[in-house]
Formats: sequence, structure tokens, C-alpha cells
Amino acid sequence: VIKLLIPDMPTADEVLPFLRRIDANRQYVNGGPLVAEFERVLRNATCAPTVTVANATLGLELVLKALDFSATSTGLDDLPRVLVPSVTYVASALAIVNAGCIPILADVDAHTWKLEPSMARSIAMTQRIDAVMPVAAFGSPVDLAEWVGFSKETGIPVVIDAAGALTEQDCGGSPNVHVVFSLHATKFWGCGEGGAVACGSQDMADRIRGLACFAGPGATNAKMSEYHAAVGLADALRLAAKHERVMRVYDAYLEALNDDHRLVFQDEPTRGNYTLFPVLLPAGYYAARVADEMLKHGIECRQWYQPFLHERPSLDGIANMIRPMVVADGLSDCLLGLPFHTSLTAADIAQVCARLSACLA
Ligand SMILES: Cc1ncc(COP(=O)(O)O)c(C=O)c1O
Repeated sequence: VIKLLIPDMPTADEVLPFLRRIDANRQYVNGGPLVAEFERVLRNATCAPTVTVANATLGLELVLKALDFSATSTGLDDLPRVLVPSVTYVASALAIVNAGCIPILADVDAHTWKLEPSMARSIAMTQRIDAVMPVAAFGSPVDLAEWVGFSKETGIPVVIDAAGALTEQDCGGSPNVHVVFSLHATKFWGCGEGGAVACGSQDMADRIRGLACFAGPGATNAKMSEYHAAVGLADALRLAAKHERVMRVYDAYLEALNDDHRLVFQDEPTRGNYTLFPVLLPAGYYAARVADEMLKHGIECRQWYQPFLHERPSLDGIANMIRPMVVADGLSDCLLGLPFHTSLTAADIAQVCARLSACLA
């Protein structure tokens, strides 16, 4: 079977020197030296005040809780309204709901498959929006400068869900724009389970650190342990080599599929650190059927994020939807995630592409 995704994580031997440091320090939790060092390394990568958390879902929730909506929303019957694209993983919506806000679901742009600032601007002109959560869909970064411009112009805070885009998504530029990353094992840079919040200001970073450690209204326990930091630090040393491996797979796919002009790929990654490979099939070819056919031939595919938020029964009556969802509906039918990981061989990729061509013949 050709697996959909095999994480490229550090081996036990690679993590061992960091675990030995934990043995020596005898500090395991609550902001020990490895977490502090990992946050310094992350801060160098994000160029923004960065706080580690237990996962990205909690990171998103805590940023929303740390925002002050009192000027626009009274709470209770008048909850803060957070605009989010339907094309995202359910975690984005869960974070919004768990922060006591209402998800307002929007369609995405036909070219980028993301919520764009121009779309958010039009929506915010016709209804109250208290915050926007753009999503770096499938790991492809959003345009930071444009979102900073949106926030400056409208005064609306922006919380970028860049769960799958650490090392791809730029951060900073405004005290009103915050970026949340996942360090899940399936991401380009992982620590097993974890997240990082790159904050627009030191004040926001301090608030997130407090909320993640039982301090203040809405607080919880979302701290990262020394063990997770050990894995994240070990993985940091492998990113350059991992990048080479990812690009080898990415380039092999493009070379094999580029001749089929009916297929549409997502924007080029800015730095090439992709973790997924979604392909838009021609209209009339349903991704669910093609995935079944591929599996019959031993190839695992996935309709990533699906069902999209506007199709999730669990959000009925909880989320507000801005219809129509023309682009999201089209992606829902025809977007297929092909196997993508650094253990794929050239022969595997050739087999996947040949089978896909046969499905589309
Ligand atoms: C877009 C998006 N948001 C949020 C998350 C949640 O991340 P985590 O598993 O770290 O909570 C994911 C997970 O893959 C995701 O893809």
C-alpha cells in the first residue's frame, strides 16, 4: 500500500541528546530550559514574540480569548462574530466556538482556495465582524502584508490559522495580527503534539502565556512539556535536509502531472516546505470516487479537511453561513489529496500518477 502520509520525525537517537539534558536539569514541565530554548528558536523563525502551546487548536482559542471584544460585543446574547473560510479543518471552528464566539463561514477565492482580505472587507461592510481567522489552507501561506493592511484599515483583529505552514507563513507587522502554528507530527516542523503562537505584540504573548497556564478568565492548561520541546529542538536540526526531501517529492509530482492541463494545483509554496499535495480534478470527476478507485489499487488518498465547515452537521445552528459557497462546493466535489511524504520513492510517485491518469481517462 502507498501510504497517504508518513511523518518525517526525528529518530530516538536524534532526540536522545535533548532527553539527556532533561535528565540533567530534572525539570519536566512549566516553562523549563528546553521550552525556553525552543521558543527562542521559534522566535528566530517567526520574527515575532512566540509562545509554545499544547496544540494549535488551543492556541487559536487562546488568542481569541485574549482579544478584547467589549467595544463591539456585549457577550451573552451578542457573541463576538469571527469570520472564517469554510475550507479549513474543523479545528478552526472548534477554537472559535470554544472561545465563546460565533463562526461566520465564508466562501474562498477560486484561485488561492483561501479567504482573501478583499472578500473579508466586502463582508465586513454588510455585517458586524469582530475578528477574522484567515486560513493558510493546505499549508499554503496567506499574504501577511495584505492582512496587515486589512486590519489597519478596518480595526478588525486578524488571527491567522497557519496550522500547517510553520516556516512558510510570515508573521508580525501589526499588533493586531497574530499567527498560530501546529507542531503536530504531520507538519513540516513537528514535536509530536504542540503549537506555537506568533503574537503581534509582547503584550499579547504575555496574555497567551498566562491563559495557557491557568491565569485569568477563560484560562486553561495549554503548556508544552520539556519532552515535546526536546523533539521540536531535535527536528529543528533536520529542517534543511527535510526540505530537500520534500522538494524531491514535490518536483517529481509536478514533472509527472504537469502535462495534464486539466489538473489544477495550489499556488507554489513560497519556500517549498509543503506537507500536503491537493489536486483539483476536472469538473465531473468526483474526488470521493477517484479516492475509492485509487484505494482499490493500494493507493491511499484523502479529501483533506472534509466535510468543509459549511457541510458539517455538528456546526448546524452554531455557525452562520454566508451563501452561496460556490468555490467551496466545487472544491468539496473535486479536490483530492494525493500521497505526499518524504518516504515516497520515484516508483511510488510514478504509480500514483499513472493510476490517477487512468482514473481520469
Ligand atoms: C487548518 C488547521 N487548523 C488547525 C489545526 C489543528 O492543529 P492541532 O492538531 O495542532 O490542534 C489543523 C490540524 O491539522 C489544521 O489543519
